[in-house]
Amino acid sequence: MKVEGSIAFLGVCGIPTSRGSKHKYERGRLPVKRILGIVASQRVLGNSEILTKAAMEATGADSQKEMIRLTDLDLKSCKACYKCLPPDVPCHINDDLNFLLDKIRAADAVVFAAPCYFLGPQGSIRILQDRFLSVSNKAREFSGKPCISIMSYGARGMEGYAEAALNLTPRFLNLNLIDSASFFGASPAEVLEDPKNLERVRQMGRGLVDPNYKRDFKANECPVCWSDIFRYDGKELICPFCSTKGEIKVEGQEVKMVFYPRANHRFSEEGRHEHFDVYLNNKKREFLAKRHHYQELQKPYRSLDWWVSPQTDS
Ligand SMILES: Cc1cc2nc3c(=O)[nH]c(=O)nc-3n(C[C@H](O)[C@H](O)[C@H](O)COP(=O)(O)O)c2cc1C
Repeated sequence: MKVEGSIAFLGVCGIPTSRGSKHKYERGRLPVKRILGIVASQRVLGNSEILTKAAMEATGADSQKEMIRLTDLDLKSCKACYKCLPPDVPCHINDDLNFLLDKIRAADAVVFAAPCYFLGPQGSIRILQDRFLSVSNKAREFSGKPCISIMSYGARGMEGYAEAALNLTPRFLNLNLIDSASFFGASPAEVLEDPKNLERVRQMGRGLVDPNYKRDFKANECPVCWSDIFRYDGKELICPFCSTKGEIKVEGQEVKMVFYPRANHRFSEEGRHEHFDVYLNNKKREFLAKRHHYQELQKPYRSLDWWVSPQTDS
């Protein structure tokens, strides 16, 4: 299937993107009563917090609102133990992940906000995403809750990959990402200097409670995950986030990107099952069968004990 720089085709073709998919909230969204705002910035009343509050406020006075400052949570790094792969096994790390997941489960709609730090989303977002191994095969429980993501950045042209990477949070959680946007503002509250920012984020907030909300069309983005960052191998365009492929076509004076989205893309039910259930479980079985062989490969490196730490140096 061919899509020319447009997401509009997807709905028509029935490709299960986060907007056109078949999960329960999307055909007729459930009423949104509880809104959860998750802010990945330490700055009190910084741009992320303000934009999140403005979006949540725009959902109306009737909804119950709760906010979590992600940077205040105790979220430890994934240990790569793979114990959490079976659908009924939670992550073994004892920290605040379950508090956060329970809050997302209890919410009807979610706002994620993070500043751009060194071209990507603030670090607590990455730590959280790394822990999604324990939820990716259980993501049906989050399936389809409307979500928006808000990225703020302070140097024009240095937005990097932050918005596309922030969007992976709702996508891997299987939430229904209905819109995302980046907002310029370096100092706390600077985003409010441009009234268009407030207007835009309020529009996104209203979208959370409007089942007919349609995100504005954006040219030159991946039709599956909305990333506007691509690899080019000399022949094909490849979306680094969802692996959707495309081509650059020159027609007369016009240069355009043409995409060929697959129905079983990374964030579809089938794509998710393929990676988190099939591939990772196969890898785990393979590891268990070959672990003595891997231990042999490790042997020459075991005795090279060059580690230092603040404790060894004191
Ligand atoms: C450590 C650090 C790194 C940053 N890196 C970038 C960057 O790569 N690109 C950019 O545009 N802004 C960068 N900024 C600016 C922030 O993205 C900007 O100030 C943002 O609005 C902060 O949001 P907040 O007020 O919600 O914390 C950086 C700020 C900090 C503190």
